[in-house]
Amino acid sequence: MAILPIIETPDPRLRTISTPVEAVDDDLRRLMDDMLETMYAAPGIGLAAIQVGVPKRVLVIDLQEEEDEEGKPIKNPRYFVNPEIVWESEDASTYNEGCLSVPEMYAEVDRPKSVTVKWLDYDGKSHEETLDGLLATCIQHEMDHLEGILFVDHLSRLKRDMLLKKLEKLRRQKRAA
Ligand code: NI
Repeated sequence: MAILPIIETPDPRLRTISTPVEAVDDDLRRLMDDMLETMYAAPGIGLAAIQVGVPKRVLVIDLQEEEDEEGKPIKNPRYFVNPEIVWESEDASTYNEGCLSVPEMYAEVDRPKSVTVKWLDYDGKSHEETLDGLLATCIQHEMDHLEGILFVDHLSRLKRDMLLKKLEKLRRQKRAA
């Protein structure tokens, strides 16, 4: 496995619409393994392939919500190939979202509280499941990446501009340090 470089905004590649995967084969599994390792190392809870420069409809998610006796997160990786939302709830939930491609910036985003998603897993097996809670939020955030959408696009222009300016300032401070 390998840790891949994560693309950050305003890299135009993040605006790519990713294409469906034709076959879940060993090459794709290698990509998913690398994406997972990259996500854990970042650290993050979700990653879309385009964030490592690959315009394919592939996501990895691990909420790492549970901890073992030593307080270390228990790994429970999930792989989503060609995910599709087939139903969404009218109820919304708000979550303070962040993104590895918009590092260290957070903002509240409203999204449907529950979604029914169809996808193929690591072995190419198909699934359909209704997801809610943080997993519903996370998969909708990651699926946005497949359409070239970032969480900041859900904010008002004023909020978005403020957040992106803050990010630029942070980058300048880091370069100067
Ligand atoms: Ni993201």
